[in-house]
Amino acid sequence: MIGRLNHVAIVVPDLAAATAVYRDTLGGTVSEQVELPLHGVTTVFVMLPNTKIELLHPLGEDSPVAPFLEKNPSGGMHHICYEVDDIYAARDRLVAEGARVLGDGEPKPGAHDKPVLFLHPKDFCGTLVELEQV
Ligand code: CO
Repeated sequence: MIGRLNHVAIVVPDLAAATAVYRDTLGGTVSEQVELPLHGVTTVFVMLPNTKIELLHPLGEDSPVAPFLEKNPSGGMHHICYEVDDIYAARDRLVAEGARVLGDGEPKPGAHDKPVLFLHPKDFCGTLVELEQV
């Protein structure tokens, strides 16, 4: 069911500094900052030949990544995103398998304006998983 790795997301305490690390130190190609109020994050994407890195910073008062940053003040890996062909079929299959979908279970437009869902880390080897329909 899961397809390509779309991105790995890292929460960072300073988005400009993290962008500089990926652009200047690692020589990566980085995007502009994009605010996603629906998800409570500001993002920068690092474009790699085979996937992307998503740098995340809290946006707004109740950002879902704010508690993560409190627990990990220097930042850290937050989630991995796999591509699926049909997000509703993927969700229904996972729910039937007993996996927990976060939030209200309805896909929302993600960083690329494509529908995304998040899956409970305890059901997936301790890692928060994002599914994106491509
Ligand atoms: Co993501």
